[in-house]
Amino acid sequence: PPNAAVRADGVLEVGGCSLPALTEEFGTPLYVVDEQGLRDRMRAYREGLAARWPNSQVAFASKSFPVLAAYAIAASEGLAIDVAGAGELLLALESGAPPELIHLHGNAKSHEELVLAVDAGIGAIVLDGEADVERLDALLTRPQDVLIRIIPGVDPRVPKAISTGGATSKFGLPIPQAKALIARLAEHPFINVVGLHLHIGSQVLEVEPFERAVEAVRELGEFPVYNIGGGLGVNYNVRHNAPTLDEYLDGITAAAKRVLPAGSRLIIEPGRSLVARAGMTAYRVNNVKRTGATFVAVDGGLADQLNVALMNMEFTPIVADRASAQPDTVAQLVGRQCESGDLLVDRAELAAPATGDTIVLAATGAYGYTLSNNYNGALKPAVVFCRNGESRLAVRRQTYAEFLGHHVGPSEESWSS
Ligand code: LLP
Repeated sequence: PPNAAVRADGVLEVGGCSLPALTEEFGTPLYVVDEQGLRDRMRAYREGLAARWPNSQVAFASKSFPVLAAYAIAASEGLAIDVAGAGELLLALESGAPPELIHLHGNAKSHEELVLAVDAGIGAIVLDGEADVERLDALLTRPQDVLIRIIPGVDPRVPKAISTGGATSKFGLPIPQAKALIARLAEHPFINVVGLHLHIGSQVLEVEPFERAVEAVRELGEFPVYNIGGGLGVNYNVRHNAPTLDEYLDGITAAAKRVLPAGSRLIIEPGRSLVARAGMTAYRVNNVKRTGATFVAVDGGLADQLNVALMNMEFTPIVADRASAQPDTVAQLVGRQCESGDLLVDRAELAAPATGDTIVLAATGAYGYTLSNNYNGALKPAVVFCRNGESRLAVRRQTYAEFLGHHVGPSEESWSS
């Protein structure tokens, strides 16, 4: 991680805060964010794109880390905000982000979501197809800018679960259908098509699919705005070799220069590559056992890191108490949820792991908190931001009272007879 360091006594620190000390104060599992690292990355993205394509915007794909503090930081760093539903929209508005810099996605938007978006005066709604047009027809009383989500027909060469660019994607319209819809909306009194949107997939480890996606918009005519989505991959371990930010920005802007009208606005909406490396997840080791294998079991798992199962993510583990020690143990680093698939790291190389240790999974800032859930009654973890040696709580740990409170209990309704 960018601002992680190992102290002389071997303790891992992030943003100047000791990881073991943070876990003492805030408990585990704990999502820890290097705030300066996050800000630096956001700034590098925004300045890097603006230097190559001045009329541009970087939007924070907030699904990757829907935490109020992250929205506020993104807005303060001059980023726009991409939301994919009413909950994310409410967080964006609550953070103080300017509504005109927010855009809403969704392949199954509800009437209520659209009402909320239109009433808030958000910058753009990304239309998935006819259903959105019908709903907007029923509620618009003044003009609303929209983008049309198209399927560019590009294979990003990533696992199927995160590929959205190909012909069978559930998101958006194939180019001929998009063309017909745009033609039909040309005279619409309120639905104002300002441009196109596309997104080919996530954890993309090459630049070339992004370039082909930009080129695919050529046949749709000229627009003021092009949002080409997110998807730049991240190095989770030494085997990954993701393009650098400069390589990615060079590639997409070179393609944009070939096909987009000069002066049009180019928008990108990265999530993972903005937040992943600024975040880590800290666990407490609750069990070390040598049976058929060496198992190191921590107090989290699929409930807070679902993507290890969803995407076979291979994260890098660190014993935060002895971060400079040479690994001497190859272990199955497992979680506590009742699934054999609750394997956080296969053949993890760890330094003398013992009960009570703090183990950290590096680069887990994206989609970990997002996908956290109550499997086996796990409570959703807290999120803490660290900067200059100071920590700030950004999300309180869910309590058992909140967990139980969702259920209709015996005092309100009796289920025992
Ligand atoms: N824009 C759209 C329309 C998207 O659907 C996504 C991600 C993004 C932008 C941001 O993509 P990114 O830059 O983060 O790759 N569950 C998976 C990730 C799913 C990604 C969903 N869409 C995971 O745990 O890694």
